[in-house]
Amino acid sequence: MSTTTLQIDVNAPIGTISPRLYGQFAEHLGRCCYDGLWVGQNDGVPHQNGLRLDVLRALQQLPVTLLRWPGGCYADHYHWQDGIGKPDQRPRRLGMSCGITVEDDNSFGTHEFLELCRLLGAEPYLAGNVGTGTPQELCDWLEYCNSPFDTTLTRMRRSNGAPEPFRVPLWGVGNENWGCGGNYDAVTYTREYRRYATMLRHVDSTAELVVCGFDDPWNIELFQTLGRHSNLVDHLSIHRYWINGGTEIDFTEGEYYALLAEAEDTEAFVKRTAEILASETDGKHPIGIALDEWGVWHPESRPWGPGEVERRDLSCGYEQAGTQRDAIAAAIAFEGFHRQCNVLSMANLAQIVNVLHAPVMTHGATLWLTPTYYVFQLHKPHIGATALPVHIENGSSLPDGSSAVTATASRAENGLAVTLTNRHYSQSAQARLSTNGSISAAHGQMLAAGSPRDINSADEPERVKLQPLSVRADGDGAIIELPPHSVATVTFTV
Ligand code: AHR
Repeated sequence: MSTTTLQIDVNAPIGTISPRLYGQFAEHLGRCCYDGLWVGQNDGVPHQNGLRLDVLRALQQLPVTLLRWPGGCYADHYHWQDGIGKPDQRPRRLGMSCGITVEDDNSFGTHEFLELCRLLGAEPYLAGNVGTGTPQELCDWLEYCNSPFDTTLTRMRRSNGAPEPFRVPLWGVGNENWGCGGNYDAVTYTREYRRYATMLRHVDSTAELVVCGFDDPWNIELFQTLGRHSNLVDHLSIHRYWINGGTEIDFTEGEYYALLAEAEDTEAFVKRTAEILASETDGKHPIGIALDEWGVWHPESRPWGPGEVERRDLSCGYEQAGTQRDAIAAAIAFEGFHRQCNVLSMANLAQIVNVLHAPVMTHGATLWLTPTYYVFQLHKPHIGATALPVHIENGSSLPDGSSAVTATASRAENGLAVTLTNRHYSQSAQARLSTNGSISAAHGQMLAAGSPRDINSADEPERVKLQPLSVRADGDGAIIELPPHSVATVTFTV
């Protein structure tokens, strides 16, 4: 077995890995919010004021740094005033997103979501309604949540149990308005955005505003239309789903690599978007790239959870198994997020519970964690740390000739952390880590599985989980053995 050499350059810091790169996304879609996060008062599942306790505890350990809600496509139907006040007096509406329509009792609303964020220690990010809303409605939500003034809306907030402003930092102006959020063309949406953003800035000039981006032509047209008003934008939202990896579990080796290639390509999308920002704006006002939906979307994802009756014949759905392959793909994405940490201002996995690339799954009163959950945990030491370049040489290769072992590294006050991924489908790899200094007191953990198709499930919740990793000292470096399709984090002092 050849050894891959990984040289970490502590003298060339890339930038800070913002906690916002470890965000999550919760939509009123399928069983994400209802069932997954919220069981209300009358369910047999233990809860804290309606919030599902087992899910809460699992998410507290993730950690969840940032949470976007209520959509997604749902956001452009959502009227926030439906979700405040006494639960039994809240209106029942059609909950609509992505082809699924449900009866929505609005029991999980603004206060419940913000309480969840408080319990998780997550920054809240509210996505506003452009598709069926108005600038006034979104201004009112911002005033209700953030204003310190004594107004009818802030009195309502107080009487609903929140005497102090919530100070929600992030506000999205619509979602995918090129599609489900109104099928706008870029110029028409941008003019709408300009109006919304101008008014929102009057209500709370500290709120960070997120404009809906899309592909390169849309993004170019958006900033050309904004012209001298690009200072109304704080973040440009883009989404990236990986959809070309064949079936969710029974994929071929070729499909395994195809999915990983898509995950890898996410970084190129971020870089291209950064180039557009650099060329189309004057750069006086910083604009971050908000990858506020990312992850795997398998072709056979189901509308509802296991054992549920399919309520509609849908061409696509939102529940899928999370394999070890999906976890490897997430680790690859994080490598790119860290390299792009100077332009990427946030990233939100789609979605937090039960839906799509979820780290946490539930069925009835049972909960299990997907391999992707553990990949998030392996990356904990990088949160808020300084990203460092990793130079890779002489390793074992993938069929396309690229290195099987890749890595991301960061420096925090208490030492260095390196997360290594062996992307190879079937072969183990050996890696030798070194830095400009010498390495000592190394500690490691890894996520490995018998097969890249392995999943956790209600029947076998701990098939894939974190394991100790042995790290062998080797002169001024360290040697690590990585099983095929595995991810490992090594932390050490220098
Ligand atoms: O995450 C599911 C859906 O995917 C979201 O509602 C939408 O924004 C995207 O198309």
